[in-house]
Amino acid sequence: MKPFELVLVGFGHVAQRFVTLLEELREPLARDYGVTTRITGIATRRHGRAYGARGLDAVSLAEGVRHGEAVGRAGDGSSSDFIRQIAAKSAAAEESRLVVVETTTLEIGDGQPAIDHVQTSLACGAHVVTANKGPAAFAYRALAAAAVRAERRFLFEGAVMDGIPIFNLVRETLPAVTPIGFRGVVNSTTNYMLTAMEAGQSFGDALAEMQAMGVAEADASLDVDGWDAAAKTAALANVLLGASLTPHTIEREGITPATGLRAVAARKMGRRLKLVARAGREGDRITARVGPEELAEDDLLAGLEGQQNAVVFHTELLGEIAVVQRGAGLTQTAYALVADLVTIGREVTAAERSARRARPPARPGRSRGGCGRR
Ligand code: HSE
Repeated sequence: MKPFELVLVGFGHVAQRFVTLLEELREPLARDYGVTTRITGIATRRHGRAYGARGLDAVSLAEGVRHGEAVGRAGDGSSSDFIRQIAAKSAAAEESRLVVVETTTLEIGDGQPAIDHVQTSLACGAHVVTANKGPAAFAYRALAAAAVRAERRFLFEGAVMDGIPIFNLVRETLPAVTPIGFRGVVNSTTNYMLTAMEAGQSFGDALAEMQAMGVAEADASLDVDGWDAAAKTAALANVLLGASLTPHTIEREGITPATGLRAVAARKMGRRLKLVARAGREGDRITARVGPEELAEDDLLAGLEGQQNAVVFHTELLGEIAVVQRGAGLTQTAYALVADLVTIGREVTAAERSARRARPPARPGRSRGGCGRR
């Protein structure tokens, strides 16, 4: 059982939890899915870079980073250069066993440099799993096409509702069912704040709690102004409805202290105010919106308390399908990366098996033209 080589681009809370979760799940992953791993590269924004062909002790490095230590020296060039260098040194890319685990934070201007990380990884023969919403929200079509060309996977389950299956659910379990629209509550920070403000807490205190818990984005205006929800909406619409949206082409309204007052008033009338994300077809266009909506109390979305999220898909064949997330946090997000890794592991193992059965004549290595420095 050859290990998968992992390169971590981004080494914040999510990636740090990912490495400890990999350790915790080491036995079932190997036993049930034949997935073993070796982390050979780590690129961080502020704590340097590390490379070790035989594998790094990522759990100790994560512990060090938590105490302010660096994982290694600051590297020359970008994280994409780092990916290229590792891909060039390792046989894993050629063997379809190199996986880049991308967990940099969402850059709402244009989704970069995460998109570049994904493109470079695929061009260099690496699969990519990411928890960043940017790539699917800004560039899904191009990246999905690049993955097909490269014969590698680009997976991003953690981009929406952490490890709760959304993209995987539709892809793996709903063959021939195409969602025609959806509505949901997809941002935990604002749902927590609306629930707390209904109960009398101030906007500032409720936000501070979400920041202290690490649920709010590093730049919390992404949550309260609806950008995070818009990015998730774009990702969902692009992947599941075949749209070509970006967070900037989605009608968007966030929440303010005044929205809290509306939430209190709505509650008194037996209704609830939620930050609803929705997308659907209008003729041959797909339109999407994020904004506060007053919902009847028996609406599934109205029942979401605190950090809870849900998405309700509309399908022609099966009617409405709802997925509800009751527990959110770092473990759930890290689990999404593990789940995507297992998807890749299964596919690679299956391909290797059928290749062994077919015993094709040896082929020269695939040319990875796009991997070189641009
Ligand atoms: N800031 C995000 C939220 C984190 O509040 O939902 C999860 O994407």
